[in-house]
Amino acid sequence: MNILQVNSSARVAGSHSTQLANELVERLRAAHPRATLTVRDLAKTSHPVLDEATLGALFTPAEQRTPEQAQRVAQDDALIAEIQAADVVVIGVPMYNFGVSSQLKNWIDAISRAKVTFTYTDKGPVGLLKGKKIYVALTRGGLYRNTPADTQVPYLKTVFAFLGMTDVQFVYAEGLAMGADAEQQALASARGQIDEAVLA
Ligand SMILES: Cc1cc2nc3c(=O)[nH]c(=O)nc-3n(C[C@H](O)[C@H](O)[C@H](O)COP(=O)(O)O)c2cc1C
Repeated sequence: MNILQVNSSARVAGSHSTQLANELVERLRAAHPRATLTVRDLAKTSHPVLDEATLGALFTPAEQRTPEQAQRVAQDDALIAEIQAADVVVIGVPMYNFGVSSQLKNWIDAISRAKVTFTYTDKGPVGLLKGKKIYVALTRGGLYRNTPADTQVPYLKTVFAFLGMTDVQFVYAEGLAMGADAEQQALASARGQIDEAVLA
């Protein structure tokens, strides 16, 4: 079993979402001692944004790319190879301004590649990243679970399903900015959810 851990907090140190992703991975590795682990920490190694130069590189045939364009496409290729190789993906996801971090958006933009991770047929889009289990550890300062303000969960479900990944389990740590007691309760609740998710 290959585990890919993606940390998408802007923080390398002190991140609650990375901490919960670490704990999820520890639990999975305890249950599957021979599992391999690849960690993609998007705060330590920031991934470039999908800008005009990147689109130009992606839409240029490989044999016609400049060295700079080839290098830019190779950066995305590396992330695609990681997720293609993964059986299980664990993602730490902070809420920033009611959405996902720009780090996570850049990662999603990188792994979403036509004819590689999804394709269009006469019946519509087909995801090509099949057979993967995804765990998402969500951390929030406030309380937004099951409310219209939680745009993260529907967004992640939609984009992962589009890419072929429909087995997605969410773990919530909410109210982290609502005082020390609320923070401890949120983390304890998240740990209980991790136990249930890994045992399921
Ligand atoms: C720039 C920024 C924006 C944030 N926006 C929100 C928000 O919209 N809603 C919310 O509930 N918490 C918000 N928070 C709180 C974070 O979601 C919370 O601190 C979370 O634990 C951050 O994840 P991390 O600890 O992995 O970095 C924000 C925090 C930061 C730093």
